[in-house]
Amino acid sequence: MSSEVKIAFVGAGGNASGHMQAVAALEGTRITAVCDLSAERAEAAARQYGARAYTDYRDLINEAEMDALYVSVPPFAHYDAEILAAERGVHLFIEKPVALTLEKGLEVWEAIERAGVLSCVGYQLRYTPYTDPIREFLADKNLLMVTARRWGALVGGPWWQKLELSGGQLVEQATHEVDLIRYWAGEVRSVYATYARKVHGNVPGITIPDLQAIQLEFANGAIGQFVTSCTGCPGGRGFEFYLEGMKLTTDGGAPTLTPEDAAPLDKEPRPAESIDAVFVEAVRTGDGSRIKSPYLDALKTLDVTLAANLSAKERRPVETYFSW
Ligand SMILES: NC(=O)c1ccc[n+]([C@@H]2O[C@H](COP(=O)([O-])OP(=O)(O)OC[C@H]3O[C@@H](n4cnc5c(N)ncnc54)[C@H](O)[C@@H]3O)[C@@H](O)[C@H]2O)c1
Repeated sequence: MSSEVKIAFVGAGGNASGHMQAVAALEGTRITAVCDLSAERAEAAARQYGARAYTDYRDLINEAEMDALYVSVPPFAHYDAEILAAERGVHLFIEKPVALTLEKGLEVWEAIERAGVLSCVGYQLRYTPYTDPIREFLADKNLLMVTARRWGALVGGPWWQKLELSGGQLVEQATHEVDLIRYWAGEVRSVYATYARKVHGNVPGITIPDLQAIQLEFANGAIGQFVTSCTGCPGGRGFEFYLEGMKLTTDGGAPTLTPEDAAPLDKEPRPAESIDAVFVEAVRTGDGSRIKSPYLDALKTLDVTLAANLSAKERRPVETYFSW
């Protein structure tokens, strides 16, 4: 590979435009091609970055020069772009959630493994200053229980509010918190979820639940509960980790310990990392060791959220696929 990293995009929506800006600002990168079903969106981005526009990702993958491909499409639209690109030896940055079904995710993962390409999924909260100090603090403690929440508002657009297109708030958005819970507390063995539609239940076109409560059983024996809502009710994001004789609390930022002197806690923020910079550097050097969110890891987060959807639908506890 030349020292210039050539990058293409499938999907040129709101999220992709942020990644395009971030990538274009990195030294030694060039955006070579952009594909979107909307020719207008593809052409606008292509014009801005001096790239070629496409409306069919198969054409882009066949024709465009690229070392890496960003796939930033809605959850339902993960077809085979990742697989075709991996088969060409192209490294992949894929937006969360990586798919809407585990079968699709496993198919993509196998293609990535077969091709030996690098993968990075857009769980950028893993790259923030306190994520690793929290993970390191919890690593040698006896975790008893986790409680966590994400309260947010309904997101607009043509697909987010439709369960069959987005998977719902847990799969699409609160997946970030599930991913952090896994990063900090370890693997989830089973879930038992109850969902409700108290605010948007009668609104035509909205098919996602707006209240979700998920009981978690971890492989290490701890238990927990994660609640999430898109009713617009204030609540924000928060996590409590109950340990023997102490509690660690964080909203994703600086953690606090109760009682404060229960154990040494490193409160020094680590330098924030740009997930795009980490990925592009990995592509440039071929060394993926600084990528904290590779595809298989992200697939395990999807697994937990899909298990919760199934559990809520069938009103029974569901074991995660990866715990079998
Ligand atoms: N990591 C994060 O914090 C974060 C934030 C926002 C969105 N996202 C994720 O990014 C993805 C995209 O979200 P968005 O907000 O940009 O959505 P969006 O609706 O703004 O854009 C999606 C774009 O994909 C295009 N598209 C759909 N199917 C396509 C196909 N087969 N080929 C080419 N283009 C196609 C659409 O035309 C649209 O322009 C979602 O998975 C979302 O969950 C991640």
